[in-house]
Order: sequence, then C-alpha cells, then structure tokens
Amino acid sequence: MAAPRVAIVGAGPAGAFAAAAIKRISGEAEIDLYERLPTPWGLLRAGVAPDHQEIKRLQDTFERQTLRRGCRFLGNVEVGVDVHHSELAELYSAVVYATGAQTDKSLGIPGEDLPGSWAATEFVAWYNGHPDFRGREFDLSARRAVVIGNGNVAADVIRVLTRDPDELARTDIADHALEALRASAIEEVVVLGRRGPAQAAFTSAELRELGRLDGVALHVDPEAAELDPVSAQWLAEEGTFTARKNVELLQGFAASPPNAGAPRRIELRFLTSPVEIRGDGRVEAVDVRRNELTRSDDGTLRARAVDGPVETIEAGLVLRSVGYRAVPLPDVPFDERSFVLPNEAGRALTPEGDPLPGVYAVGWIKRGPTGILGTNKRDAEETVARLAEDLREGRLHEPPADARERIDALLAERAPGAVSADGWRAIDALERERGRSAERPRVKLTTRDELTAAAAP
Ligand SMILES: Cc1cc2nc3c(=O)[nH]c(=O)nc-3n(C[C@H](O)[C@H](O)[C@H](O)COP(=O)(O)OP(=O)(O)OC[C@H]3O[C@@H](n4cnc5c(N)ncnc54)[C@H](O)[C@@H]3O)c2cc1C
Ligand SMILES: NC(=O)c1ccc[n+]([C@@H]2O[C@H](COP(=O)([O-])OP(=O)(O)OC[C@H]3O[C@@H](n4cnc5c(N)ncnc54)[C@H](OP(=O)(O)O)[C@@H]3O)[C@@H](O)[C@H]2O)c1
Repeated sequence: MAAPRVAIVGAGPAGAFAAAAIKRISGEAEIDLYERLPTPWGLLRAGVAPDHQEIKRLQDTFERQTLRRGCRFLGNVEVGVDVHHSELAELYSAVVYATGAQTDKSLGIPGEDLPGSWAATEFVAWYNGHPDFRGREFDLSARRAVVIGNGNVAADVIRVLTRDPDELARTDIADHALEALRASAIEEVVVLGRRGPAQAAFTSAELRELGRLDGVALHVDPEAAELDPVSAQWLAEEGTFTARKNVELLQGFAASPPNAGAPRRIELRFLTSPVEIRGDGRVEAVDVRRNELTRSDDGTLRARAVDGPVETIEAGLVLRSVGYRAVPLPDVPFDERSFVLPNEAGRALTPEGDPLPGVYAVGWIKRGPTGILGTNKRDAEETVARLAEDLREGRLHEPPADARERIDALLAERAPGAVSADGWRAIDALERERGRSAERPRVKLTTRDELTAAAAP
C-alpha cells in the first residue's frame, strides 16, 4: 500500500485527530493541515473557555501526534479562497474536510439583530482572542444580561459574565475582553431554557460549576425545578444518567437559599422562550412566553408555547446560545437542511447521494455541531478507517509526482503570509513568554498582523 498524500482542511480537533489516525495507519503518509487562521487547534484555542485551562493541554498531544510526526501546518490559508477544492483533489490522493461549524444558528424572532443582541459564537470568539472578532465591542454597561439556551456554551458564557475578573486574569482570556469585563456592570444573568430541567443540554459537571462560583448566587425557583408530568414519565422510563443528575442538581439548587450577599446572580429559568427582543435602537428588553412539553411523533419532547401573558425581562445584553452552524465551501457538497457535508461514515457523498471518491468529512462538518473534544477522536477513527479501506482497494487517485512542488508554488503566489509549524511555534513561545511574568498560561496575540509578525522567520 503506497503512502497517501492527504490534505486536511481545518486544523481543529477533528482535523488533528484525523491526522494522528492517518499517521497511525501509514507513518509515511504526507499530510498537509490547511487552516484559515494563523494558529492551529480550532475551538480548543478559540472556543474552550479560558477558565477551563486543563482541557487546553490537549494541544500538546495534537502537537506531538501531528506536527512532530511530520504533518505540515499551512496556517493562514483559506481553502475556497486561497486554494480551491479542484486543486486539492488533483494534488492529493485524499482531501479530508474538518472545517467545523463557523457560524451560529438563528432564533428567527423579531429584534434578534438589534445592537446588544449577539450570538454566543461571537462573544466566545471575542473573549478567546479569535482575530476575526478582535474588533467587536460588547456593551456591558447594563445591570442584566439574558442568555438564551441551556447548553455547555451557554454555561461558558454565563461563567465568563459572572466570574470575578481577578479569577479570569489568571487565564489566557484575551486582554481586550478582560479589560471590558473589569468594567462590566452586569450583576444578573437570566438564562432561558425552552424545555424543562430534565432536557437541559448542560453536562452535569458544567451545571454543578454554575452553583460553585465565588461571589455568585445561583437561583432556581423551586416551582421551575419541579418536573411536569410528561418529563417525569420520560425521566423515569428513558432519562439518561446526565438528565437524572441534572434534575437532582437543579432541585438541590432550588432547595438551598442562594447566597444573599453575593454581588452577582444567575437565574436559571425553564419552559420559557423569547418571542421578541425589543429596544429603541438597541436591546432594552426580552419578551418571553411560557412553554409546555409535548411528545412529537418521533418520541422527542418538544416545547410548545402556551396561551398566556407575555412577560418582559429588562436587559441590556442578549447572548443567543442556541447552537453553531456549518457553512458551505465552494465546490464541496453541502446539505442545506442539516448543515453538514453529506457523508456516509465520513465518505463524502454528492447531493444525489453518490460517493465522491477521495473526499471525506470529519468532526462538526460531518455530524453537526455537537459533541465534546473526545467525540471527534472516535469520529476521526471512523473516517480514517474508510480512507484506509479506499486506499487498500485502489480507489484513491495517484497525485502527480511534482504535486508537492506545485502546491508550494501555488501557495507562495496566493498565500504569501502562510504560517508554518515553526511559525506557529514562534507564536506559541511568544504568547507563553508574555504570560510568564503575569503568571498566566499565555497572553494571546489577537490580530492577524501580530500573529503573522510573530510567525515570520
Ligand atoms: C464555545 C465552545 C466551547 C467548548 N468547550 C469544550 C470543552 O471545554 N470541552 C470539550 O470536550 N469540548 C468543548 N467544545 C466542543 C469542541 O470544541 C468541539 O467538539 C470541537 O472543537 C469540534 O472540532 P472540529 O475540528 O470539528 O471544529 P473546529 O474546532 O471548529 O475546527 C475547525 C477548524 O477549521 C478551520 N477552517 C474552517 N473553514 C476553513 C477553510 N475554508 N479553510 C481552512 N480552514 C478552515 C477553522 O478555522 C477551525 O480551526 C466546545 C465547543 C464550543 C463551541
Ligand atoms: N465543557 C464542555 O465540555 C463543553 C463546553 C462547551 C461546549 N461543549 C459541547 O459543544 C457542543 C455545542 O454546545 P452548544 O451549547 O452550542 O449546543 P447544545 O448542547 O446543542 O445546546 C444548545 C441549546 O440551545 C437550545 N436551543 C436550540 N434552539 C433553540 C431555540 N430556537 N430557542 C431556544 N433554545 C434553543 C437547545 O435546546 P433544546 O435542547 O430544546 O434543543 C439547547 O439547550 C455540545 O456538544 C457541548 O456539550 C462542551
């Protein structure tokens, strides 16, 4: 079996796990990791919350299993802009798309786009120093913020909004975000879950953490923590371990009096949906309605608005944390309904459902925007097993002998600011060095100019 030449598009966790898995099946494989940012590791750097530093150590494993094993990092190169799918398809035996989910899912309610209403995706990217979000200005001058959604991203943004900035100052949070959070007037975060306590998407560790933040009172109304009959039956018959644990935690929070002297407060509300975000030129309030749960034909429990009054929650900031969404790449199949690259166990399919030889998908672009980091490892193994099978069966094309020289010439012309693995290591070293005197893990560079200057040989 000849060693394959593989282009992996997107150097996030899924791309890194895929590269490592390919190296395990073929140590001689030539792998190029294309990445639109000057830095690798996707949401591990630009998504995972700064107060969860221990998780960020996974980057050392990625470095060891990919770049140290000869995979090339081609950072600051955007596929679909600087280099095209047809070129990759010609110059590599396989192309693996690992581009994640680059935007947010919208709510589809009036006022969603008012100034002061933001997708959590933007807030997260801003506080994590993603260079494309450096210029965002979040107005944190109001007393109350509303977070919509009950997932772990919502948990992250709730913590960042309520944690004492002195705690965040020990992390790698972007300096511009730390400065803004130090001046923040937000004292209360109201969190809206459209379904009930048993359906919250938080993992239990993340939910528990919300109850343990210093200087923050977590409030859950005892009535809100009670299960409606539909949920009680669902939990008893088919509830997951996490759902049971979450309900137990939420009922525990509801039963214990919140710390009255705490300077900041989180309120978790359930069975509540926003119907309109209102304000004169900027967010001033969120109108919400109560929901009930109904069982749909496929057995899932869905939220349905009940007749009743609309309640108004005054707030100056709204973070919509209702999920990420993938975007299509030019000349690459995309399913506009499920927002994924259509695939069968990682093998790309045309819109008609026919196999597209030599093209694969992995991570969030393959299965949608859910799953923790480790989920992408198993997912990458599945995709790479298909790639290995296609290689064995002779279904991959043989790239021309001068393929590497041709791609390098093309990149030299079209992406002169490309960042190599050594360039990334120079960025990494400089950021860690900047962090050392401040006893922080790193102080991030947050503009493309700073990043590419640090990477320059
Ligand atoms: C805010 C947030 C916090 C999270 N925190 C945790 C956590 O604490 N623990 C945990 O286990 N999981 C966490 N997760 C989940 C985890 O981050 C994801 O499972 C994982 O990042 C998905 O990997 P991916 O490689 O598919 O996507 P991504 O991480 O998004 O990587 C995709 C990469 O592709 C690049 N790219 C996109 N388009 C192109 C293009 N055209 N050309 C070149 N490159 C391109 C992007 O720049 C990006 O680097 C979190 C997720 C989010 C959103
Ligand atoms: N610490 C960690 O491990 C960590 C941190 C961050 C993210 N992650 C992972 O990354 C993935 C993405 O996280 P996520 O929080 O973006 O997604 P998620 O887990 O899918 O949660 C999305 C939330 O938005 C709600 N929602 C969706 N549409 C809505 C609407 N129209 N109105 C109101 N609410 C709506 C969902 O409610 P319904 O359930 O009713 O649809 C759900 O509560 C998850 O797998 C998560 O576990 C992990």
